[in-house]
Amino acid sequence: MILVTGGAGFIGSNFVLQWCARNDEPVLNLDALTYAGNLANLQALEGNEQHLFVQGDIGDAALLGQLFAEYKPRAVLHFAAESHVDRSITGPEAFVETNVMGTFRLLEAARAYWNGLDDTDKAAFRFLHVSTDEVYGTLSANDPAFTETTPYAPNSPYSASKAASDHLVRSYHHTYGMPVLTTNCSNNYGPFHFPEKLIPLMIVNALAGKALPVYGDGQQIRDWLYVEDHCSGIRRVLEAGTLGETYNIGGWNEKANIDIVHTVCALLDELAPADSRGVINTVTGVPVQQYAELISYVTDRPGHDRRYAIDARKIERELGWKPAETFDTGIRKTVQWYLANQEWVTGVMDGSYRDWVQQQYEVTPA
Ligand code: NAD
Ligand code: DAU
Repeated sequence: MILVTGGAGFIGSNFVLQWCARNDEPVLNLDALTYAGNLANLQALEGNEQHLFVQGDIGDAALLGQLFAEYKPRAVLHFAAESHVDRSITGPEAFVETNVMGTFRLLEAARAYWNGLDDTDKAAFRFLHVSTDEVYGTLSANDPAFTETTPYAPNSPYSASKAASDHLVRSYHHTYGMPVLTTNCSNNYGPFHFPEKLIPLMIVNALAGKALPVYGDGQQIRDWLYVEDHCSGIRRVLEAGTLGETYNIGGWNEKANIDIVHTVCALLDELAPADSRGVINTVTGVPVQQYAELISYVTDRPGHDRRYAIDARKIERELGWKPAETFDTGIRKTVQWYLANQEWVTGVMDGSYRDWVQQQYEVTPA
């Protein structure tokens, strides 16, 4: 079986769903269920014995030792992290705890387990670390996109903690010979994205008639990849990646934030017109005609990186991976998903998603 950490979060849950749809191999899903973990994301797997969920912390060395000994995974796919840049600015400690110390403890547990394997299983074992393009820092308008050899220059506590975890993973290969792989991906979007992040926040706020907060001048650029493409890239790296190597994953979709917000508004105008839903601007009390009326420029994020762009040629050249979605198809699907899954949104917004543990799943306590 494979061990997935953070498999109740946005990307992890998409990965687990995709994995179970395409493989028979069981998944042990270890997730602490922080505010970002939501078992409703995995509702489709209810009753499916291929998926075993354990609520627990990647920093819990005793639990990790127990899980490795009992389930003997052939691979670890490490998604668990504190992931939101704004939260890392207001409260960096959790980022150091989970992203640095948690990754360290997971590496230690994996190393102890891997050391005890026979030669064949040792050679077949994989530790795949899921990381971000933010470790490379920020680009100017005319800089070339990040490659795997771009020097690390993290600018936020989030990206610094991810950079630290990347370095630890690298060192476990170099020093101990552990069979590790690292992926550095650009901004994801798609189903189950927690509405603290730009795209889902804009969809959820627009439908509620709330302001659409655009940081600074809105001209910051991110490089967007549909989440299922990220997951297929990770599966490909797991399957065929060269040990000790890092792979950038991206979709060649650089967009300014303000253009993203306008695109979301235009799709909502088409698919869920504000006048037919009776959306009222919560600030002015006036009925909304077009969602873009809700756009509101707000104070910039401190230390805000100006531009990210991923050069994804290595994974395409060496592993033959390419994204399946264009931005146009992916963003339309995403807006449609949020419109069709208002119950999921409501559960997240009123906090009731946290009751899913009791309501829907038999959870093995840590
Ligand atoms: P997320 O915040 O949606 O989910 C994180 C998950 O990890 C949650 O389910 C949470 O409960 C769990 N978790 C947090 N701390 C834990 C701990 N100590 N022990 C066990 N579980 C814990 O994050 P995401 O957006 O799905 O990101 C997943 C990974 O992908 C992260 O490592 C992130 O750095 C990386 N990444 C994200 C993006 C993106 O655009 N979202 C892009 C590139 C890379
Ligand atoms: O690049 C990959 C990274 O992408 C991941 O490693 C992170 O885990 C993930 O959260 C994401 O980080 P960003 O900071 O780029 O994502 P976020 O959705 O928070 O913001 C995207 C852009 O939109 C960024 O320039 C900030 C801006 N923004 C964001 C929010 C939440 C706004 O203008 N207004 C907002 O309300």
